[in-house]
Amino acid sequence: MRRLLRRLASSLNSSGPARRLRWTCWETPHRPPARTPFLTPPRRHALCLSGPVPRLPQPVPLLLACLLTTALGCGAGESQFPANRVYLKKQELAAQLELSEQQRQDIVSVLEFLFGTPDAPRVPDLPAVDVRHVLPLEPLQVAAGPVSSDQLGRPQGLYRKHCAHCHGLSGDGAGPTAWFLEPYPRDFRRGIFKYKSTPGPLAPPTHDDLTRHIRSGNPGSPMPAFNLLPDEELEAVAVYVKYLAIRGEVERELIFESVDQLDEYDRLVDCSLQDDDPEEFAEQLAPVQATLSGIVRRWRDAPQQMTQVPPPSAGWNSADSIRRGQQLFAGNVANCVKCHGPTGRGDGQNVDYDDWSREIVDPQNPSAIAPFLAAGALPPSPSQPRNLQDGIYRGGSRPEDLYRRILDGIAGTPMPAVALQPPDAKPGDQRLTPDDVWHLVAYVFSLADSQDASLAPTPETPPASGTVTGRRDRSVHFSRLNIRSRAVASSKESAINSSILD
Ligand code: HEC
Ligand code: HEC
Repeated sequence: MRRLLRRLASSLNSSGPARRLRWTCWETPHRPPARTPFLTPPRRHALCLSGPVPRLPQPVPLLLACLLTTALGCGAGESQFPANRVYLKKQELAAQLELSEQQRQDIVSVLEFLFGTPDAPRVPDLPAVDVRHVLPLEPLQVAAGPVSSDQLGRPQGLYRKHCAHCHGLSGDGAGPTAWFLEPYPRDFRRGIFKYKSTPGPLAPPTHDDLTRHIRSGNPGSPMPAFNLLPDEELEAVAVYVKYLAIRGEVERELIFESVDQLDEYDRLVDCSLQDDDPEEFAEQLAPVQATLSGIVRRWRDAPQQMTQVPPPSAGWNSADSIRRGQQLFAGNVANCVKCHGPTGRGDGQNVDYDDWSREIVDPQNPSAIAPFLAAGALPPSPSQPRNLQDGIYRGGSRPEDLYRRILDGIAGTPMPAVALQPPDAKPGDQRLTPDDVWHLVAYVFSLADSQDASLAPTPETPPASGTVTGRRDRSVHFSRLNIRSRAVASSKESAINSSILD
């Protein structure tokens, strides 16, 4: 009887406004959610960060409202993480089925049970692994929530203040500014990061990687340097990035499992059982916790995965070393020319997409992208091999940064890792040695040193060696970059306009 009454009460509660509010998480960004007053500032702010603003039916008033509410430090009150509709659409189309509203709602509820909300983040308790080691609660709380300050005047809501307009409230990389940027801000929810000291797409960055890159920004991209933020604030936003990444990875798993496993009336986890039947709830939650533990362990163990960088041998960066690097660059094994072109200007044949765009692009069927755009995806953007003559390195310009980038490739992008010879390699093994990688580093640096950008050094006329990080005049790069960004922005604008007209 008690159970029946509880269920009745919970079903009454859940059909009230709170439930309607939550369900809007899954709505497409095109329509303002039904029955939500048009401009309730706190809620609207969360929505404005959740979807691509230009696609909403009344973009101008809404944009103004967003700007106004941002300027007022809005966001107080309940906010919700927008759901990953694009990935859900992808899985649903692949399986040719649709999750029921109840099943979608269960995903939202279990994520909230584990991670809380943007205003009140939570660190899940797991039996098998100490999550707070990876996600300490205090810095998380400083970065979360609306922009404000505590009683001692210490700032709070740092993520929404500094990052969300590009990276989005849920870390989807689709904040209102994102539409006009090239490359797009990172979508943290896949847990894939480009510039890190660990190899491969699965190994997360270390905490130091994150803080270093947030501090320095990614030069040559719109990711700004936050080197004026005090250390504690930098620490807080780095923890928050991890929180969004881990939450986003769990969300993807929940979506995948729900689409893959559930029949029409099945439920992955029924959060209302928490009080009614804790044992059953614990049983349903266990596989989710196991998945989460695996993800948290990867983040925890990242420092042990770091690629070791051996010191270069004597003679590195000499004329001979650079010449050797150039031969490797053009040779069949490293084959850097395939993408970067014979003079390193990024004009090789290969223009591909990165993993974020590739998830929604079907080269055989370009129109297959429409449902993803309708679900809020940013239009795909090609991943251009870098023009190495610019001498701007997004992942850092220390020799060891370039060594790691060349050896491990750039996760999430077409730039591949190179295969290294094992220490017991047989004579004649074609694979590269660590010294070869260092010669490639020397050659890449030398490309940026070349006085005339149109002339790459040839083996007969190697450039003078000696400087490792010598750059040409950066103002040239930035003016070039701005022109390119403007061109990209205007082509995106027309894509957006045409999708609104459609
Ligand atoms: C003006 C827009 C903008 C703002 C503001 C911004 N970012 Fe970024 N961020 C970007 C872009 C664009 C990239 C992608 C750069 C690339 O792919 O080369 C990026 C990439 C990143 C990355 C990924 C680096 C990697 O290794 O993959 C992290 C982490 C990051 N930003 C964190 C932050 C944090 C934290 C803040 C706030 C303190 C912030 N960003 C503010 C645009 C922005
Ligand atoms: C299949 C294509 C491809 C090949 C092969 C390739 N690259 Fe790249 N490379 C890229 C792309 C794409 C990027 C830009 C990635 C991004 O930031 O989105 C890039 C970026 C770079 C960068 C810039 C790193 C930074 O921090 O900004 C360097 C340096 C580089 N490549 C060197 C090399 C070298 C050396 C080789 C050969 C060992 C090589 N690449 C092979 C596609 C390729």
